[in-house]
Parts: sequence; C-alpha cells; structure tokens
Amino acid sequence: MTIAIDGPAASGKSTVGERLAKALGYLFFDTGVMYRAVTWVALQRLGSVEDEAAVTRLAEVVQIDVQPPSQNDGRQADVWVDGDDVTWAIRRPEVDQWVSRVAAYPGVRQAMTQQQRRIGLRGKVVMIGRDITTVVLPEAEAKIYLDASVEERARRRYLERKARGEEVNYEEILESLRQRDHLDSTREVAPLRVAPDAIVVNTDGLSVDEVVQKILAQIN
Ligand code: DC
Repeated sequence: MTIAIDGPAASGKSTVGERLAKALGYLFFDTGVMYRAVTWVALQRLGSVEDEAAVTRLAEVVQIDVQPPSQNDGRQADVWVDGDDVTWAIRRPEVDQWVSRVAAYPGVRQAMTQQQRRIGLRGKVVMIGRDITTVVLPEAEAKIYLDASVEERARRRYLERKARGEEVNYEEILESLRQRDHLDSTREVAPLRVAPDAIVVNTDGLSVDEVVQKILAQIN
C-alpha cells in the first residue's frame, strides 16, 4: 500500500507522515527536500534562482540522495547533494524564500516527479508533498490532505525553529508562509489542491497523536 499526503507548508505533514510510516513499518519520504536541495544548489552554484533554463539543467544532472537519518539530531532523513550533506542547509531562510519559485519551474518538476514516482511505485511508502495525491501517485490507496490555519502553522514553525536555537520572528514566518501558500497553489504546473478522492484532515487544535489515529482509522 502507498500513502500519499499533501498539504500547505507546516501543516504537520512531516511529523504525521513520519509517525504513520513508523506505525506501519513503511518508508517515509518527504518530497519537499528534493525541491529544497535543487534550490540550495542553484543558490550555491548560480548565485540566484532567476535563470529558469540553468536551474532546470542543474535539476536534471544533480545527484540528490535521501537516506534514513544517520544522526540523532532531529533530522528525519539525510539529504545529500553531489556528496555534500545538506540536511540542515536546505532548511535555511534563503531556501524557504526561493523554493516555491524553483518548484514552479516545469522542467524542475518533471525531473523530480520522475524520481519520486519510481520510489513511490515500490510501495510501502508514506510520501508527502504538494502534488503527491494529484500528480506523482494519483493511484495511491490512501490519499490525505492535511490542513491547518496559517496562524497555527506559523506558530508551529516558530516553536520548531526556536527549539533549534535559531533567531526567529513570528510575523516574518507568518508572512513567508502566506507567500509560499500563494505561490504553491497558484502555479501553472501541479499546484497544491485537494484531490477529489482525498480525505481532508484539519489539524487545528489536534495533537499529532490524534491526527495519526484519525488517519489510521480511515485507512483501516
Ligand atoms: O514541504 P516543504 O515546505 O519542505 O516544501 C518546500 C517547497 O517545495 C514548497 O514551497 C513547495 C515545493 N514542493 C512542491 O512543489 N511539490 C512537492 N511535492 C513538495 C514540495
């Protein structure tokens, strides 16, 4: 069985997805890290993400490896790009700022979607993202759309970053989430939307446990 989960930034997909995968003994795969990795490489090697053709070429040749976590420092996976461990680098604010732009480039999406579909079709996987239920694995047996208000999502991101010892500002996080929501749901190719046969779970006011139980009950 394959479980596909979509939803806006910070809706709880990764925490819930990881817990579900553990409960079922499945692989957990967060597709957002791939778009983040391409964004990081583009910023490093091109200095910006403006040049769509150059970013697309990079996405087609760069070697992105996602492996089970090798360290117990809060990471959900190791993310490697051409041999560099970029697990934490891809969480930096400059990547947050540009990733939605990169994820809107059709050629980048094509390169990422192919790799994701290959992994998803092996089965026994919980795959999370923005277009997993609609484009990457529309045939998944379980399709979930996780939602939460933007204020609640900003609060979660704020607490997460603060716990990692980062300098954080709630208003900035809120604004950045609003911008990403807008870009992710209005882009031409594979925008974030609710698949007709997805189960919508609103996580406002629910604990992670409650959300996981709700989804497991639906799947059963
Ligand atoms: O889930 P995240 O915040 O790590 O995702 C980073 C960006 O990647 C997000 O702004 C949208 C994009 N993304 C996407 O377009 N399609 C996916 N399947 C996963 C992420």
